[in-house]
Amino acid sequence: MIIISPSILSCDFSKMGQQFRFMEDCGADWLHIDVMDGHFVPNITLGAPIVKVLRPVTPLTFDVHLMISEPLRYIRDFAAAGSDIITFHYECDSDIEETIDLIHSLGCKAGLSVKPKTDIEKIYPYLDKLDMVLVMTVEPGFGGQSFMADMMPKITKLREECSKRGLDILIQVDGGISLKTIAEAAKAGANVFVAGSAVFGAESPKDMIAELRSKAAECF
Ligand code: DX5
Ligand code: ZN
Repeated sequence: MIIISPSILSCDFSKMGQQFRFMEDCGADWLHIDVMDGHFVPNITLGAPIVKVLRPVTPLTFDVHLMISEPLRYIRDFAAAGSDIITFHYECDSDIEETIDLIHSLGCKAGLSVKPKTDIEKIYPYLDKLDMVLVMTVEPGFGGQSFMADMMPKITKLREECSKRGLDILIQVDGGISLKTIAEAAKAGANVFVAGSAVFGAESPKDMIAELRSKAAECF
């Protein structure tokens, strides 16, 4: 299963509702919503109230990526706002297991992410509890950065570990995904692809999503 999750960080924030609906028309599978607190990363985006008002706009899965220092404090708000999958960072200040359990207890799927400098083995103790692992291919904080191809061995290792344990976990890549880079990530073992500038910067976002999907599919 290949999932394309356009990152709304690159959309026109003055008409988010329209842009969310547009992504549905363009064939997006999910919507990747980047939440930044200006502390965990040097940028601020949006919070749960925005997610809540956008929830009625589209039935697309809300894939919420929390780049915040204390996710545990805000999980309830993001779940109540209508998030489907909540991903937070291994490098945050909250207790990892408690945060995963809270996400699940609120009926959402849980993802755990690693920044480029974090070894993938760090998340192995939590693997059996997770629905998704997000391997960052840029330093989190901003859209439009270059894809870090040297993250691919982390994805391959993780895929092998999941197979060894018989786990069918989603592996997401985020940062610099484009027609030039998606095949490399798919070959390494990723199956959920976040793309911000590639999709929203395309002349036809619809064609771009279709092309990204077929490039990834060639690798399976
Ligand atoms: C970066 C965010 C990404 C970002 C990706 O911190 O987590 O989701 O929007 O943007 P592109 O696809 O432009 O690299
Ligand atoms: Zn993201």
